[in-house]
Amino acid sequence: MVKLKVFDVEKKAILIDNTKDNPNNLDTISINIIDFDGEVYILKTLVYPDLNLMEVLRNAEFHMGHCGGMALCASCHCYIEKDNIKLIDISSEEEDMLDQLFTFNQTKSRLICQIPLEKSLDGINIRIVKD
Ligand code: FES
Repeated sequence: MVKLKVFDVEKKAILIDNTKDNPNNLDTISINIIDFDGEVYILKTLVYPDLNLMEVLRNAEFHMGHCGGMALCASCHCYIEKDNIKLIDISSEEEDMLDQLFTFNQTKSRLICQIPLEKSLDGINIRIVKD
């Protein structure tokens, strides 16, 4: 996966564009990310089949995914900020893990390894939480 980082002056965000190489004509989406240190990123990615949201962020070098996406480590804990995007419901395994977190937020917390990568996620706003 090719990764290009370009500082976007207008949006004061760091653009990570992983869409340059698209031989299979996959859909493209943008993911808005605020890291736990306040740095803002716009990640443009292809909608790869069978990947989840955590895997796309990890491939872009965000530090997460210690359990491989099994809902066991919470390294991918994020807040989903004010979105109209309908996400897959929280499973009992995800809920059990979230309940243990000091930074758990009833309305915003998700383990993003449990969210499949889909075109409908275009424009989602994610804040990475430091637990
Ligand atoms: S990667 Fe471990 S809980 Fe999501």
